[in-house]
Amino acid sequence: TGYTTLDQGFVNTSSTKSAITYIDGANGILRYRGYPIEELASKSSFLEVAYLLIYGQLPTESEYQDFTDRIRHHTLLHEDLKRFFTALPPHAHPMSVLSSAVNALSTYYEDSLDVHNPEMVEQSTIRLLAKIPVIAAYAHKKSIGQAFLYPDNSLDFVDNFLKLNFGNLAEPYEANPVLSKALERLLILHADHEQNASTSTVRLVGSTEANMYSSISAGISALNGPLHGGANEAVLKMLAQIQESGEGVDRFVERVKNKEDGVRLMGFGHRVYKSYDPRAKLVKESADEVLAALGVNDPLLELATQLEQVALNDDYFKERSLYPNVDFYTGIIYKAMGFPTRMFTVLFAIGRLPGWLAHWREANGDAKTKIGRPQQLYTGEAERHYPEDRGFQ
Ligand code: CMC
Repeated sequence: TGYTTLDQGFVNTSSTKSAITYIDGANGILRYRGYPIEELASKSSFLEVAYLLIYGQLPTESEYQDFTDRIRHHTLLHEDLKRFFTALPPHAHPMSVLSSAVNALSTYYEDSLDVHNPEMVEQSTIRLLAKIPVIAAYAHKKSIGQAFLYPDNSLDFVDNFLKLNFGNLAEPYEANPVLSKALERLLILHADHEQNASTSTVRLVGSTEANMYSSISAGISALNGPLHGGANEAVLKMLAQIQESGEGVDRFVERVKNKEDGVRLMGFGHRVYKSYDPRAKLVKESADEVLAALGVNDPLLELATQLEQVALNDDYFKERSLYPNVDFYTGIIYKAMGFPTRMFTVLFAIGRLPGWLAHWREANGDAKTKIGRPQQLYTGEAERHYPEDRGFQ
């Protein structure tokens, strides 16, 4: 018809109906399938939350057993895929390694690419949940030049992941239970957030009936940007830069307010939350717990706390309803756990995976939506004609 409304950045337009996650941004409420995030973060496990998001209900004990067994069964990577890592340069960013290797999975599992076959969708779901943490750990090991370990399926999901990252072939490894608990909680907090940029990407790519591996790989790429999941890495870089330059919190905040060189307070602000992000509250608690338990006194935590206080009491941030988001304190915890800064967004990706899978399945299941195909308002040239006398063509 030629008529279309303009909503750049999708500020007002719902792209879909969804029954997975509820957010009330004005009141700082987040629920997965109806369950408050605070209850899930303190009582549940990451794989139970994954089950809840993907299938809609908490599992019975036997369903949970079956689900976790199936994931354990699929943790190995094909040996040829392991060689893929050696083809990449040693300085390769682990997020690029992750998105590339996840897309490469589709070449190994052509048997499970049929998006119209529910059994194959299920198979791909389990394979992705099982193999992405292993790929992530190998991206880490690759970046520090250490040998890859085989998954240890006697361990649960989080301990296995920690061992793959921090274990080595020479010594036995046992995860510190404080770290396991904190990581479990962080993964739960990241598990879904309705139609954020990466999830919308997964749904859009999925709407073309592209396979699940490619759709999730696209989601990982969207997550990588510093305005989205890449913010956790950007926060740590910002804190380190403030510390190293010695410029001080007040001067840095002034630069943010004056929008000098486009500098932003990373880890602050959110499209949906116009009050304190409920996840950020829980993350801050974990940061205090983990650092206390490890006996770590990280000056960056003190710096972050100061920045938060200055910002929360400043009119610039108050007028714009800018509060700390989930990414503000996570990096300090990941750092204390021993992860390099470049792994932070990879950890976010592992957490967000169940959400991406749940949304892909919702969008391609019974409530299958049309292919996503936004309209545009054309602002280019009116019709013009190719010159008769251009000569050189
Ligand atoms: N620091 C300084 N000013 C900010 C910030 C910030 N972090 N966030 C927003 N503003 C200002 C912005 O300049 C604008 O001011 P004005 O009206 O004077 O132009 C106003 O607040 C509204 O901002 P916006 O950019 O229109 O808001 P948005 O909804 O488009 O962007 C956001 C949301 C998350 C991209 C943005 O707040 C931001 O860039 N934050 C920093 C990056 C970050 O922490 N991202 C993680 C988001 S949460 C988890 C995730 O998705 O991964």
